[in-house]
Amino acid sequence: MSAGTLVVVPTYDEAENLELIVGRVRAAQPQVHLLVVDDASPDGTGDIADRIAAADDHVHVLHRAGKEGLGAAYLAGFAWGRRRGYGVLVEMDADGSHQPEQLGLLLDGVAQGADLVLGSRWVPGGSVVNWPRRREVLSRGGNVYTRLALGLSVRDATGGYRAFRGSTLDAIGLDDVASQGYCFQVDLVRRAVGAGLRVVEVPITFVERVRGTSKMSGSIVREALWRVTVWGLEQRWRWLRSVAWGPGRPRAEG
Ligand code: GDD
Ligand code: MN
Repeated sequence: MSAGTLVVVPTYDEAENLELIVGRVRAAQPQVHLLVVDDASPDGTGDIADRIAAADDHVHVLHRAGKEGLGAAYLAGFAWGRRRGYGVLVEMDADGSHQPEQLGLLLDGVAQGADLVLGSRWVPGGSVVNWPRRREVLSRGGNVYTRLALGLSVRDATGGYRAFRGSTLDAIGLDDVASQGYCFQVDLVRRAVGAGLRVVEVPITFVERVRGTSKMSGSIVREALWRVTVWGLEQRWRWLRSVAWGPGRPRAEG
């Protein structure tokens, strides 16, 4: 495998959490590098990140001019990492919901040949701790809808703890990813599956944050709902067209 693992940690107002999460990652996996992608957090998270990076050559910071959403932050972080030749790129929240102590499970999956390893709350062994009922219903419902609309077989397409082989990011074409909010997560899974890559799920324990607040909002949910619906319709339309006018019928199933 090519050189190095980069854990990309997007931050917006995570001043109370950043030092803790970086410390836990460094302790759990001393060889990996971290990139904090901060969207000019008003609470000074960016300055804290700079201070940590100045004292630790495994920690890097990417400052962005303003809050542009989780998807945009990850795209910038991935591009930064690919330019520097990291072979594995990891997504991780800054608020402690994703356990750095479970990072090894994700990295093992890549080492065993997966192109994308999803940390999954909704496979046997996976779980969620302290989530409000509302969030659990939203996540379970969103995943059922995503599976039906897109015909995906993964149980947790919306999760944000995952490891990409660098070649996976190159193969799925990040240039035209328009998803701004959390539906970015679904977008990347659907692209990886569509590209015929090996996507596997490993169980994780998602622990709701104890400090700071979630940036999830109604507009993020609405964006996810309409984008998943449009992707599903596009997929069906392409399939229908191939049945009607394609060179031949798609291979018979079953
Ligand atoms: N740079 C940047 N810009 N970071 C952001 C932005 C943004 O616009 N929005 C959120 N973040 C960061 C947060 O600071 C945190 O580190 C991480 O992204 C996750 O944000 P939360 O607001 O804590 O997300 P959540 O706990 O509600 O949602 C989690 O579960 C979702 C699925 O149920 C996340 O893991 C999501 O990625 C996931 O889709
Ligand atoms: Mn969170």
